[in-house]
Amino acid sequence: MISEPVNPNLTDLLTRTDRIMSGANGRGADPNSARPSRDSVHVGVDLGTAYTVLAVLDENYQPIAGTYQFAEIVRDGLVVDFIGAVDLLRRMKSQVEERLGFELKSASTGYPPGVPQAEVRATANVLHGAGLDCTGLIDEPTAANNVLQIKDGAIVDVGGGTTGIAVFRKGKVVYTADEPTGGTHFSLVIAGSTGLTFEEAEAMKTDPKEQTRLFPLIRPVMEKVGTIVRRHLAGHKVERIYLVGGTCAYPGMDQVIQEITGVEAVLPGKPLFVTPLGIAMNN
Ligand SMILES: Nc1ncnc2c1ncn2[C@@H]1O[C@H](COP(=O)(O)OP(=O)(O)OP(=O)(O)O)[C@@H](O)[C@H]1O
Ligand SMILES: [Mg+2]
Repeated sequence: MISEPVNPNLTDLLTRTDRIMSGANGRGADPNSARPSRDSVHVGVDLGTAYTVLAVLDENYQPIAGTYQFAEIVRDGLVVDFIGAVDLLRRMKSQVEERLGFELKSASTGYPPGVPQAEVRATANVLHGAGLDCTGLIDEPTAANNVLQIKDGAIVDVGGGTTGIAVFRKGKVVYTADEPTGGTHFSLVIAGSTGLTFEEAEAMKTDPKEQTRLFPLIRPVMEKVGTIVRRHLAGHKVERIYLVGGTCAYPGMDQVIQEITGVEAVLPGKPLFVTPLGIAMNN
């Protein structure tokens, strides 16, 4: 459980998002929610190194539909496969529209801090290409904090390709860094030592039945993430680290980060969906 001062509805929000994202092959609409209207939804697109996430919220910013998919279309915040990204997002959009029964018109998207403006525009162009007006561009830590609602502390986003660190003071970002170590490196280590392909290693890594056995193998990569975080937080007075990004879902990751940094690390139930939800809240 997370103590104050984070969003008091965080656990419930992330649990419902996870149910929607995982339901019906990850394309579910929440059967319990009232029928949303097409003009009042908030849509977010998170183009990541590993996962592309599409999240739809109702007028009260509650999750109602979404989907996510593994795809290698972005590297370290830069779109490296524009056509692939447009095709993927188009497919994801129509799956979600089918569930909702109406067309999605616009969306917000995010970018890691420090990415050049030209690259941010490329991300917006992926949305246009897929038939969505891009109505908002938000940096990822600020998006994550739309959901977490912290005032002071650090948000550490361990995704597929990179580890992002953002220090917050009085609710505003005061320092950011992004370094190329993330979940992809966990999978590469597993592939290297088992002889599996990257895709097989990726599947094994995210299988809860395998995670305890694989832990000693990937612990050094977790420690490296911890060392990166420690280095960037040196000189900042940070009392708590909030972990987001899919890789933080690996059991034990929070303890390793806490051990290496010496700073309390808190893990929201479903760290994978924090940033995508916060991006949707910006639409
Ligand atoms: N349950 C899990 N346990 C461990 N790792 C997981 C789990 N679920 C997802 N991951 C990993 O999380 C990563 C994807 O997370 P996320 O969507 O936050 O990254 P991304 O946004 O695609 O990448 P980046 O932020 O680096 O561009 C992948 O490496 C994936 O294997
Ligand atoms: Mg990410």
